[in-house]
Amino acid sequence: MGFLVTESPSDRALWLRTKLDSANRAYHELDAPIINDAEFDVLFRELVALETRYPELLVDSSPTQRVGGPLSRKFLSLKHSTPMLSLSNVFDAEGFYAFCDRVDQSSEKDLVEFVIEPKLDGLAISLIYEDSKLIRALTRGDGVAGEDVTENVKTIRDVPLTLNCEVPLNIEVRGEIYFDKDDFETLNLRQMKSGDKIFVNSRNAAAGTLRQLDSKITASRPLTICCYALVNANLIQKITRQSDALKFLHSVGFKTSSDVQLATGRANALAAFRDFEKRRDNLPYDIDGVVFKVNDLGLQKSLGSVARAPRWATAFKFAPDEATTKVLSIDVQVGRTGVLTPVARLRPVFVGGVTITNATLHNMDEITRKDVRVQDTVVVRRAGDVIPEVVKVILSERKSNSIPYQMPMDVPNRERLIRTAQLIHFCSRKAMNVDGLGDKLIEQFVAKKLVHDFADIYTLIEADLVALPRMGEKSARNVLVAINNSKETTLPRLIFGLGINGVGQATAQSLAEEFNSLESLGQTSAVELEKIPDIGPVLAENIVEWFSTAANQHSLKKLVEVGLIWPTPAKTDAFKNKATLTCVITGTFPELPRELLKERLNAKGIRVVSTLSKSADFLVAGAKAGSKLKKARDLGIRVLEEADARLLLNDEISVDQLPKYHK
Ligand code: IVH
Repeated sequence: MGFLVTESPSDRALWLRTKLDSANRAYHELDAPIINDAEFDVLFRELVALETRYPELLVDSSPTQRVGGPLSRKFLSLKHSTPMLSLSNVFDAEGFYAFCDRVDQSSEKDLVEFVIEPKLDGLAISLIYEDSKLIRALTRGDGVAGEDVTENVKTIRDVPLTLNCEVPLNIEVRGEIYFDKDDFETLNLRQMKSGDKIFVNSRNAAAGTLRQLDSKITASRPLTICCYALVNANLIQKITRQSDALKFLHSVGFKTSSDVQLATGRANALAAFRDFEKRRDNLPYDIDGVVFKVNDLGLQKSLGSVARAPRWATAFKFAPDEATTKVLSIDVQVGRTGVLTPVARLRPVFVGGVTITNATLHNMDEITRKDVRVQDTVVVRRAGDVIPEVVKVILSERKSNSIPYQMPMDVPNRERLIRTAQLIHFCSRKAMNVDGLGDKLIEQFVAKKLVHDFADIYTLIEADLVALPRMGEKSARNVLVAINNSKETTLPRLIFGLGINGVGQATAQSLAEEFNSLESLGQTSAVELEKIPDIGPVLAENIVEWFSTAANQHSLKKLVEVGLIWPTPAKTDAFKNKATLTCVITGTFPELPRELLKERLNAKGIRVVSTLSKSADFLVAGAKAGSKLKKARDLGIRVLEEADARLLLNDEISVDQLPKYHK
């Protein structure tokens, strides 16, 4: 960790404390972070390391000595009936097994049962009910006392104001207040339109919304809740396990997670974590990990808690999506449309579950704005399948002799690089899907002048391949088989693979549906193209231009000659007859509120009606579907389960590709 040699450890500690304090204040009190989590982490750990090495530097007021920020003065502060604990964290299987070892010491059973809950990234809240009425809602605060945000919480639709039970209840329930991903996006869109501030992240938006002095503002934003704890659950009859408590909460009207899992033994618990990790991006809400809780309340009690966290629960955090690393060099990449993109070559770093070595810097404007330089320490981010990017430079780590990066205006071999990028796109998974034909191999084909255009891929022979370095006969044959297999394709894939500027997968799909053949697409005027939804003048012009270029016509002709085939899409496509499809929704959809589902289906031109008759095209069936499901089956109507509906909504399949009947 390089700080300047002239700086003494005590100066550095002071600097770090000041920096972390202001970051904490910005985050917790002003809801406007000045540095991100990864950066905070780096500085925080540096301070911990310094204080460990020089204990005399440790002061009581150090940010390492407290959690969270001080209470804000806007709301009344009230003491919690039972402290609101925090959770210990583990970051890998080893850490989790160490937690299991401690649990096992207090357990009489060989295998402990765990409840595995998503760790929602929002704000903890305590809800107090007297005579079944919500009388108070407190934030976590410092864990001992919290802020009274009752009026604001009452505006959240998913918080029951009165409990659904026969005997009046006095209970205290804890949960997390947050925004669903979609709702957060909508909120920011609205903020942007009205010229209000854009929230950096969902958690801060939730905090800011909950701590509004005017509850009308809170009411206008789509906050939701997920409840995960019943205080003193053991005092309620028949509740002996956390899973019972969750069921009970649900039964009296609380929203609980529908993604909770039960697992017996550490190996199964770990498998459940891996499952969450895989599904993370598809969940409608943000999670930063998974919470493991010992299910048996008796065992929970004997395990007790230490300091601020229970010993019967832990949070297994996902590998962070952001990390810091060093920029080793900056290269310029040439895209298939000829655009130059600067790319940072990084010291390998583990982010969001994978090791990354490159991050895009987008363009010169971005480099200038972020002032990224070779040798800089930077924060990099990776979200799902998205290309990793440099978020910002950690200026305090910059070398004094560093100079701003200057992007070259052009690169050598530009034409060749463009052709390579086009071929890489053509062979990619979502286009022709030539399995095993990696970027490096394509680069060599072009460099060795074996391949000039798309069709040349299909005329390669074994001798061409084995002549390449590190290519044995067996791998050469595998590549040829993969190339041959890709000959049979579909029109949308082919259109997408051509790499027409601006034609993504969805547009390729619409074009294929609209024109049914490359010939008719190629003969269409820009005016006609613009009539298709989502195709604007620029895109229409790109398409016309692509097809009117002689070289492109030539390469299409060659593709047919080498034996590429794509069946003409059936005319019966569902989306052609917009609004003529009718469906009925039944059951519950934990991941997709009914209204949203309806709206999304409507957007696809599918009409949602309430009564199921023979004329309905399909039934969307969620959990606990009852009589309608039976009726649909009796009538032979196609049934879509939630997962199928999701595929349909995400354009991953069309109605006709759905399984016929779920009989
Ligand atoms: S249980 C004594 N369960 O994580 C147990 N907490 O890092 C205390 N959180 O303050 C909490 N999802 O805000 C629990 N399923 C879940 C949770 C959860 C999110 C939050 C909560 C807590 C923080 C601790």
